[in-house]
Amino acid sequence: MKVAVVGAGYVGLVTAAGLSEFGFDVICIDKEADKVECLRQGEIPIHEPGLDGLVLANRRAGRLDFSDDVMGAVRGAGVVFIAVGTPSRRGEDAADLAFVRAAAEQIGRAMDGFTVVVTKSTVPVGTARMLEQLIRDVRPDADFEMASNPEFLREGSAVEDFLRPDRIVVGLSAARARERMSELYRPLMLRDVPVLFTTFETAELIKYAANAYLATRIGFINEMADLCEAVGADVAAVTRGMGLDRRIGLHYLQPGPGFGGSCFPKDTRALASIARQAGSRAKIVEAVIDSNNLRKESLAERIAQAVGGDVRGKRVAVLGVSFKAETDDLREAASLAVIPALQRAGANIAAYDPVAVAAARQLLSQVEWCEDAYETAKDADAIVVLTEWNEFRGLDLWRLAAQMREPVLIDLRNIYSAGDVAKTPFIYHSIGRPTVVPGG
Ligand SMILES: NC(=O)c1ccc[n+]([C@@H]2O[C@H](COP(=O)([O-])OP(=O)(O)OC[C@H]3O[C@@H](n4cnc5c(N)ncnc54)[C@H](O)[C@@H]3O)[C@@H](O)[C@H]2O)c1
Repeated sequence: MKVAVVGAGYVGLVTAAGLSEFGFDVICIDKEADKVECLRQGEIPIHEPGLDGLVLANRRAGRLDFSDDVMGAVRGAGVVFIAVGTPSRRGEDAADLAFVRAAAEQIGRAMDGFTVVVTKSTVPVGTARMLEQLIRDVRPDADFEMASNPEFLREGSAVEDFLRPDRIVVGLSAARARERMSELYRPLMLRDVPVLFTTFETAELIKYAANAYLATRIGFINEMADLCEAVGADVAAVTRGMGLDRRIGLHYLQPGPGFGGSCFPKDTRALASIARQAGSRAKIVEAVIDSNNLRKESLAERIAQAVGGDVRGKRVAVLGVSFKAETDDLREAASLAVIPALQRAGANIAAYDPVAVAAARQLLSQVEWCEDAYETAKDADAIVVLTEWNEFRGLDLWRLAAQMREPVLIDLRNIYSAGDVAKTPFIYHSIGRPTVVPGG
């Protein structure tokens, strides 16, 4: 069976590579001709561990190709995935379906023979039915069925998540689509990965509900971290004490600078919008969105407090600008909120990230980009850990402190043990834990 994937971003590219690894002939299409050319040359435009090897192996095996021609690529495909972006509409909470609609129209015009059109993008409830009608309007004679197959992969472990998912969700309304989707996911079904066949609406909502729940856990533990700071408790111990309860678990209970990325912020907003439109307000989700926004806005002030109340004229070193470790994605990253806020308050910024500097240069100005953490720390009045890259965990803190004008470490990811930092020259501020001074 030939499979076409429209969109070669984080999701489309991983989906295409993963399905070719399962043995299908896959063509991945993007409207950006430069991106397609890069991919054809063997260059992977994003940082995603394991993806380059997977793409290369399946290219060599002749199962994976790239194209910028939707018409040509979709013709003859038995299954076509829509994996294009669904950002928030400008100035609104609702998801913008312009890319999805455009892709569906192009697919509608191109397809021949029986085709299953699958939404893999995260889309509002009702989208599969809307696209079904849209394609029907474009091609009244087309033989096709829709499926809604939301993606749950995490950037940074996307390949692993795609090849070994916790579950597959498929929304359907007809039998032939079920047959095709079963064929497609048979390699995973054989490994006992649960596959939930459900309606379009349920599949679409499962994706938003899952993301909003995970975002809620993060919002909740951030609130507890603030409370820990106010009452002198230690959030690391609180989290462990809570999370060891099997009803709660330890995942997604890591306090930090507020959630970012390409999914949680826009998907929580979209869910709140869907709920408002349905007349069933999602008040918990709305509260999570507000508290996360406030958190990101307060980060610059937190840093100012750590350097004596005012950052004017101070040099602040920032470690990590991607929204989380193991990705170069900066969408809604904390760095995009905190660095401009510090600059507006008069700080000079030096920054380093292991993979995201090229992307960050497009989005942040007047930043001195450095080659490593030690260079970043040079003459700094404070060093701020914004992304939990592993390479920051093993830094020589004495060497780091020796570079700086003032040894102030603000760890917004709690990557260090307070006891360890107490043995160094640093004054150590972290999230939800007491401030540590040298010697204890
Ligand atoms: N990034 C994640 O971690 C993640 C996880 C699960 C679900 N999702 C969802 O998957 C969808 C895609 O996300 P992403 O992060 O991969 O987006 P992305 O922005 O990285 O990639 C989208 C790609 O689609 C291309 N595109 C847009 N319109 C096109 C068209 N008509 N024809 C061909 N190509 C087109 C764009 O050029 C871009 O390369 C979104 O709905 C997102 O919410 C993302």
